[in-house]
Amino acid sequence: MISDSVSLHLGNTTIGNLRSNKMQSPLEALKTELEHFGEKNDNAYSERSKRMLNITRDTGEFLSVMVRATAARHILEIGTSNGYSTLWLAEAACTTGGSVTTVESSAYKAGLASDTFSRSGLSEYVTLVHDDAGATLTRVTDASIDLLFLDSERSEYRAWWDQIRRVLRPGGLLIVDNAISHREQMTPFLNLVESDKDFTSILVPVGKGEFLAVKVRVTPSVVMTGNRPSKGIFIGFRQTRHPKVSAFLRSASL
Ligand SMILES: C[S@@+](CC[C@H](N)C(=O)[O-])C[C@H]1O[C@@H](n2cnc3c(N)ncnc32)[C@H](O)[C@@H]1O
Repeated sequence: MISDSVSLHLGNTTIGNLRSNKMQSPLEALKTELEHFGEKNDNAYSERSKRMLNITRDTGEFLSVMVRATAARHILEIGTSNGYSTLWLAEAACTTGGSVTTVESSAYKAGLASDTFSRSGLSEYVTLVHDDAGATLTRVTDASIDLLFLDSERSEYRAWWDQIRRVLRPGGLLIVDNAISHREQMTPFLNLVESDKDFTSILVPVGKGEFLAVKVRVTPSVVMTGNRPSKGIFIGFRQTRHPKVSAFLRSASL
């Protein structure tokens, strides 16, 4: 018999085996079923419209940690497929008092996702929107989204960027899948986000590559004023729209 402490030194395979020997919760069993279905289905079909194209399990775990760590409540997912990634987001949203709105344009996949959610026990935490994501984004309130997971039609991302940046709240987090697996296709979009001074970003080597961008609250900078008394260091804000800061800068004659 292998003890837990020994198994930890044997790498993920052994840990995975130990996990799978344990009794799975219905939700875990559903995730596993979808993983097997996705793999089999995607090996059988080459047309994108029939493939599930699900995130990897470690990406699901990563999303779960991100939702919990940021205490995200208003979560928007673009690209539902059959709802595998949504399960990870919704399961985490239960713990933050939040919920997930997920958008899917394919009637076939929205149908599969609807079945997934009714079987998951998480349907009260999920709103499935069967529509085009570009159209849906225009209906989302300004600065209302805590976390946006983007896993859809990559050629559309640049066109959606203005809406995505509008709907994310200051401090809100954008996570984009396939940033490494489809690096070339993603480069124009990633460059666009990286060049946006209101966002700070990083590429994380999890799953197919997760690109993270946070909408910054203010862009602080330290301004050393040369013509002020020698002990004076003025700490100001290079760019902000907050009225109190604007008033402060005016009163400081800057
Ligand atoms: C990569 S799959 C999503 C996989 C899903 N996130 C998962 O891991 O389980 C991308 C999905 O985006 C959908 N899609 C493509 N273009 C779309 C659009 N303009 N609006 C909404 N959904 C779209 C596709 O039908 C497809 O199901």
